[in-house]
Amino acid sequence: MSRVQHYRKTLVTIGAVIAAGLGAAALALSTAGANAEEPSGGGDFDAQIIGGDPAAEGQFPWIVALADASDPSFNYCGGQLVEQDVVLTAAHCTEGSDPADVVIRHGGTDITRTEVYEVAEIVVADGYDGATMANDWALVKLAEPIAGAATVPLADADTKDWGTLTVAGWGTTETGSGSQDLLHVDVPYVTDDECAGAYGGEFDAASMICAGDLEHGGVDSCQGDSGGPLVSADGVLVGVVSWGHGCAEAGKPGVYANVGLLHGDITAALAAL
Ligand code: ARG
Repeated sequence: MSRVQHYRKTLVTIGAVIAAGLGAAALALSTAGANAEEPSGGGDFDAQIIGGDPAAEGQFPWIVALADASDPSFNYCGGQLVEQDVVLTAAHCTEGSDPADVVIRHGGTDITRTEVYEVAEIVVADGYDGATMANDWALVKLAEPIAGAATVPLADADTKDWGTLTVAGWGTTETGSGSQDLLHVDVPYVTDDECAGAYGGEFDAASMICAGDLEHGGVDSCQGDSGGPLVSADGVLVGVVSWGHGCAEAGKPGVYANVGLLHGDITAALAAL
């Protein structure tokens, strides 16, 4: 999303949080889908790609950030190279943006030392629904390929029982702002049944997958990590950071676009680029 939209969304959500604090909109917030993704303030909010550690150089060699073309120091979402000239990210990260509004940052864990790349085209998933966050993925084609860059392999099936997954990003930490250094954290796979138990009808089993420590919370992605990678132990991209109720709250796992499930749609869009 554009910087302005990002801020607008944050303001709207802060309004919702204040209302929830007054008790008035608690139910609305917990069922609000896309708007329920910001830290709610209702739980133990200790964000830090929550509970994470700095990534080693080369650990996520294909990771990128989306940044504002008019201020490339403002990175607002994550993503990953699936080809040397194509980034897979979240649809809600590109919503309302022209290619000229967005640049891609790649080439290191310290965001200030990454290179800036121009964008030629943005393709949002056909079935993307900004109200429900269904099919929250998009492809961003670069003006030029990044020669020599690594790409991440996509899960080609909805394997379900993934065990421990890892999520990475430059998003919100416990200090409430983004991290200059790339962080990562392990998050247990959460079954569809458990996720439906946590989110009811907000969880769309046809396009989403969940991960987090249901019982304790404390580990999660957060604001600014959207679009970034959820990977399996063998380095396959299983999910794309999408939304959650707050960040790292017990009983409220992170929700991701389900790459294994959406593999056919994503590869078809890649072939059509
Ligand atoms: N929508 C957020 C973003 O734009 C990501 C939220 C992820 N939340 C979570 N609890 N895992 O960066």
